[in-house]
Amino acid sequence: MIELKNVSISYPLPDGSPRPVLEHVNVHIDRGELVYLVGPTGSGKSSLLRAMYMETLPQTGSVEIAGFHSDTMKLSDIPYLRRNLGVVFQDFQLLPDRNVFDNVAFAQYVTGNRGKLVTNKVLHVLSRVGLSHKRQRFPHELSGGEQQRVVIARAIVNDPWVMLADEPTGNLDPSVADEIQKLLIGLHRAGMTVLMATHDYRMVRNFPARTLAVLNRRIVEVDPKSLIS
Ligand SMILES: Nc1ncnc2c1ncn2[C@@H]1O[C@H](COP(=O)(O)OP(=O)(O)OP(=O)(O)O)[C@@H](O)[C@H]1O
Ligand SMILES: [Mg+2]
Repeated sequence: MIELKNVSISYPLPDGSPRPVLEHVNVHIDRGELVYLVGPTGSGKSSLLRAMYMETLPQTGSVEIAGFHSDTMKLSDIPYLRRNLGVVFQDFQLLPDRNVFDNVAFAQYVTGNRGKLVTNKVLHVLSRVGLSHKRQRFPHELSGGEQQRVVIARAIVNDPWVMLADEPTGNLDPSVADEIQKLLIGLHRAGMTVLMATHDYRMVRNFPARTLAVLNRRIVEVDPKSLIS
């Protein structure tokens, strides 16, 4: 489902020389797994997720995800890849001038779906995230937790195989964070492959699952029970 082989990512320093963030990293995630990605701030968690989303290509190695391979990807394949990935990134990124329904429907329109099919799918995912009653609201009329649920609804409306979540509970207070985590775990239980980058060890302990850590530019498997905040 997700296979990273020998992946290195670096960014240029002001003098143009490369500063490595990840070096020769290997990751294998099976279909249907729930995996946490932990590591200190600046260690490269978001960089790894962006490589999986193929927003950036690694300097070495290859990325395979949901049947797409970085070595053979064409630019024109990117939209098809993105339809198979649900992404929930660090900031909410909702369209401020559209209501909840339209924010979610937008993800359907870009796939070419129209009409009743879109309406039915959007209403279905909004009920899954518990926001049917707020479908006419605009983002600024929602709490942080509600906005994040809209982001999740938008991420799942195209029935993706994989969910990449980058600190999906980062800006939320603990009780709301728990609610969002439960939602993501519910998606995993329903069969979705979920990779979640988080700083929040409390979350990992609440619902322990396979945990990868970025450590010294490498990815290592860690025991979720050993994480102390
Ligand atoms: N586009 C970029 N250009 C230059 N440097 C970058 C870029 N993106 C990230 N970096 C650097 O790469 C390192 C890894 O960043 P990344 O965002 O992947 O870390 P992270 O583990 O997600 O951190 P956080 O927990 O704070 O979200 C950081 O030192 C960051 O400053
Ligand atoms: Mg990050």
